[in-house]
Order: sequence, then structure tokens, then C-alpha cells
Amino acid sequence: MTADADAKKHAGMPGGTNVLVSIDDHIAWVTLNRPDKRNAINPGIVFEMVQVLDALEMDDRAKVLVITGAGEAFSAGQDLKEYFREPDAGDPMLRERLYRANAAWQWRRLMYYPKPTIAMVNGWCFGGAFQVLIGCDLAVASNDAKFGLSEINWGIIPAGIVTKSVAMVLSQRAALYYIMTGDTFDGQTAANLGLVNFSVPASELKERTRALAKKLMEKNPHVLRAAKTAYHHVREMSWDTAAEYLASKSDQAKFRDPEKGDQKGMAQFLDAKSFRPGLGAYKRNG
Ligand code: ACO
Repeated sequence: MTADADAKKHAGMPGGTNVLVSIDDHIAWVTLNRPDKRNAINPGIVFEMVQVLDALEMDDRAKVLVITGAGEAFSAGQDLKEYFREPDAGDPMLRERLYRANAAWQWRRLMYYPKPTIAMVNGWCFGGAFQVLIGCDLAVASNDAKFGLSEINWGIIPAGIVTKSVAMVLSQRAALYYIMTGDTFDGQTAANLGLVNFSVPASELKERTRALAKKLMEKNPHVLRAAKTAYHHVREMSWDTAAEYLASKSDQAKFRDPEKGDQKGMAQFLDAKSFRPGLGAYKRNG
């Protein structure tokens, strides 16, 4: 793509420097854009991503977000110089502000983001990038992507909230193996471990991700939002509290759903006999 065409594609979008956004077919492609630094997460990416997530939440053109990286990396993790060394030597208040903004976009915003999110792992994925990956609802990797919790190799623990995230999606054996060895693994292994939903040849990565995004777009967005929020909250609850919460959440979702999906779905199944929930989604415009 020429620089001109590229500029046009991103015109009027949030981000534009460290993060590029383009919306096509209601999919917002959010690209970490420091390819020369393997998309290492510096303050520029942190503060721009907070703005991008805020802007896309309110943008009706964006129904699903895909987060990926420019060039040969998804992201090489936190920027060792600009995220760690320089802020560590500077004003502690500014460092605190940076850490807070980083937590905001990598998990506080992403995990509970009102729209579906997919991580498209196109290459290197290290350290802090695991948080972005796990913060997204779903993830697709290129077979030849390379993952690693490399922190142990240079004398720190996987921090931020990465250890907790990893404990959430990997088995204890796998989590401790990769935390303690720093070994790398490829996209297919990531799929076998359940770290990503599936992995595909690099040449198919974008189209398979697009197909997944489209599948999500067929669903009722209000119910999708309630379903993912409920999932994250019930993980920490007792069974009794979860049962109470889910009953209320279910009522809330029905009450707030402008398309009244439950009534449509039931009428189409029970009265019109025009659809079967086990074989696909109800006709949202029917
Ligand atoms: N922080 C800062 N700069 C980085 C980072 C990073 N995490 N990763 C890559 N870069 C920079 C390199 O310093 C280099 O900059 P330069 O051109 O100014 O010298 C540039 O990106 C390209 O990196 P290379 O190492 O030359 O690229 P290569 O393709 O050979 O290797 C790889 C890529 C394997 C990703 C390598 O860069 C690497 O190991 N990076 C560190 C990965 C890591 O351990 N991340 C965890 C950080 S800690 C955390 O996230 C909590």
C-alpha cells in the first residue's frame, strides 16, 4: 500500500502514530505500529491505546476489534528502555501514571470491553504482550508466531498482571514451565495449550480472523456484552453468589436488549418453527 493510500485508510481514525486503526466491514483493525522496535510497548503505545479503546467504544462503525502488530511482531512486550529504564530513573509520579494507563488498556479496559475483541498474533509475542493477548476475548495465531515469557532470562518475574493472566488460561504445569524456563513456543503449541483458540498458516491469518469476527457480528451485541462480562465476574464468585448474580445479569440483559432477542428467538423456535438454536442464530431482523 502506498503512503498516500495508507494515510487515507487511517484518516479520521483515533491513534495514528504508535497505533493505527482502520475500520472495514465493521471490523476495527487496531495495529500496534512500532515495527522497527518489534512493537515493544512504550509510553506512546500505552497512552494512544487508551484513547483508541475509548474512541472505538463509542464508534458505531466498529462492531468487533482485532488487535495485531505491524511487521514481523505482534509485540515484543514492554519496551525495556522507554517503559522500564527511563521511567524508573524519572519522576515516580509519572511512572505511576504510566503503569496505571498500561493496566487500563491491557486488562481493565480490554477484559471488560463492551465489544468483542480478538488478538491476531502475527509474530513475536513476549512478556507484557501476553497481557494484551489474554485480555482479548479470543485469539488466533499464525503457526509460525513465537511466544515467550522471557522475563526469567533477564532477571525479573512476569509482572504487571501477566502471571495471574497466564494462571487463568494455562494449566499449572504449562504455566510454570514457561515462566521458569523462558522457552519459546510456536502458534500451534499455543493452540494446543489453549493460549489461543486456533493457529493457521500465516497466509490465512487475516482471512480466518475476519471470518471469526464476522461470526461474532451475527450475534446479538447486547447479549454478547453481558455474556462476556458475566464470565469474567463469576470466576471469582462463590456458587451461591454466582447464581444470584447470573439471575440478575440475565434479567438486566433482557431488559436492556433493544432488539428483544429472547422473545424473537423463542417465537421463531416455538411458534413460527423457523429456527433451531442448536443450528445457528435466530433471525435478528425477522
Ligand atoms: N524493548 C525495547 N526494545 C526492543 C524490545 C523490547 N522489549 N524488543 C525489541 N526491541 C528493539 C531492539 O532493541 C531493536 O532496536 P534497535 O534496532 O534500536 O537496536 C529492535 O527492537 C529490533 O530488535 P532485534 O532484537 O534486532 O530484532 P530481532 O528480530 O533480531 O529479534 C526479538 C526479535 C526476538 C523479539 C528480540 O528483539 C527480543 O528478544 N526482544 C525482547 C523480547 C522480550 O524479552 N520481551 C519481554 C520484555 S519484558 C516485559 O514485557 C515485562
